[in-house]
Amino acid sequence: MAKNKLFRFAEMKKMDHVFEPAMDDIKNDKTGYNGNWRKEVFKNENPIVLELGCGKGEYAVGLAKKYPNKNFIGVDIKGARMYVGAKQCEDEGIENVAFLRTKVDFIDKLFAEDEVDEIWLTFSDPQPNKPNKRLTSKIFVDRYRKILKEGGKVHLKTDSDVLFESTEEQIKEHGYDCSFFTWDLYRDIQEMPDDIHDILHIKTHYEELFTQRGHQIKYCQFRIH
Ligand SMILES: C[S@@+](CC[C@H](N)C(=O)[O-])C[C@H]1O[C@@H](n2cnc3c(N)ncnc32)[C@H](O)[C@@H]1O
Repeated sequence: MAKNKLFRFAEMKKMDHVFEPAMDDIKNDKTGYNGNWRKEVFKNENPIVLELGCGKGEYAVGLAKKYPNKNFIGVDIKGARMYVGAKQCEDEGIENVAFLRTKVDFIDKLFAEDEVDEIWLTFSDPQPNKPNKRLTSKIFVDRYRKILKEGGKVHLKTDSDVLFESTEEQIKEHGYDCSFFTWDLYRDIQEMPDDIHDILHIKTHYEELFTQRGHQIKYCQFRIH
């Protein structure tokens, strides 16, 4: 493994806002995380917002700075990327962000019923040949339903036509309550209400990459209960 990766993994082990549960503990419900994020990790009763497939965690960190009265958790399986956001929080003293290194597939084992207030999916892998692995597939949405509060929103920001089209199909097929849906976010952003306008300007690493390649950015917001 590259030296830089090893360094990042070692550093993350020392960070008390980074959680890397063992697979056996997840499977046997022994992580102790489930139901304890507010009390044990953030030590407050503020809402919890997840960024799933967070990469470097630009959304988790960017939103945390805008909303100090909410708690944010970036979730990804790739530790070397996550280190960037985790280190930024350490360096800047940002206390309302945690990072959880795991597969999103186990999310309903790591949070309790109603423990989560909102979910962001930022430039999720489109999985062109594996629709069930898309983070907006029914399999994943059913996991989110278990942990999301009634009325909790799911946001998807993506450059991918495949992912956006299949998400639109899922919204229609399963009757999710969709409040925003645009194939061209930066064309439509001016007409959006101020609160949502503010949060959509955060740009992740992949958004920057895809924008440079001329991809149009898409966005939708829906409720699943
Ligand atoms: C295209 S990258 C986007 C990263 C970041 N959100 C951004 O916009 O820059 C997709 C990320 O999702 C993560 N990912 C995809 N499927 C996942 C899964 N099932 N569990 C955990 N992470 C996953 C990958 O490791 C990767 O970091």
